[in-house]
Amino acid sequence: MASKTESRQSSKSRGGAASNRGSSPRSSGGGSAFSWSGGSTGVVLGAAAAGAAVGLAANLGRKFLVQSIGASPGDWFDALKAEHQETLALFDTLLATGDDQGMTRSHLLAKIKYALTKHAHQEEAVVYPALRQANLAHDADALNAEHGYVKTYLYELENMANDSPEWLARVRDFRSMLEEHIRMEEDEVFPAFRNALSEDQNAKLSAAMNKEGFKMA
Ligand SMILES: [Fe+2]
Ligand SMILES: [Fe+2]
Repeated sequence: MASKTESRQSSKSRGGAASNRGSSPRSSGGGSAFSWSGGSTGVVLGAAAAGAAVGLAANLGRKFLVQSIGASPGDWFDALKAEHQETLALFDTLLATGDDQGMTRSHLLAKIKYALTKHAHQEEAVVYPALRQANLAHDADALNAEHGYVKTYLYELENMANDSPEWLARVRDFRSMLEEHIRMEEDEVFPAFRNALSEDQNAKLSAAMNKEGFKMA
């Protein structure tokens, strides 16, 4: 197939390590005030651990939320298609901005960069390798090369003044290239590949891709 163009905190609880020094240490009974098994320090440490656990849970919750946006659980192709549409919508919002909206443009470009980076990682770490294993290396390599140009567009746009019509014209070129890359994935390569795989193979691919997406969420 001819080549086409395209194309994470742990919340460290500081738990107030300071202490309950004012409270009376146990001077008798064998228990040290610094005993792991009891006493005020144990309470403080326990509170710190609980705080850390809450922070960790919050971060995991955020990751689950990010990773599940637009994704149909269980199907790698549907999830990628949803991400394509979300990214193109961000481009459309960006293309509707004026030259005097530099801050908005920078913000939208950063969102696009994040979306594309996560998306590309899922494809490059899971889907393209699976294509190569299925003797579809030519398609995988063509698509992978196009991801290099995605990074080039991002690099150029980040290093150009974004208050000119030229900048927006470059965004337009970027979107066109991305659209063609998406067309190749959605109309040619991915559907045929999904159809060629068993239900179990598709489920494994979806799980592996979701795992990689979760790392980037
Ligand atoms: Fe891609
Ligand atoms: Fe894609």
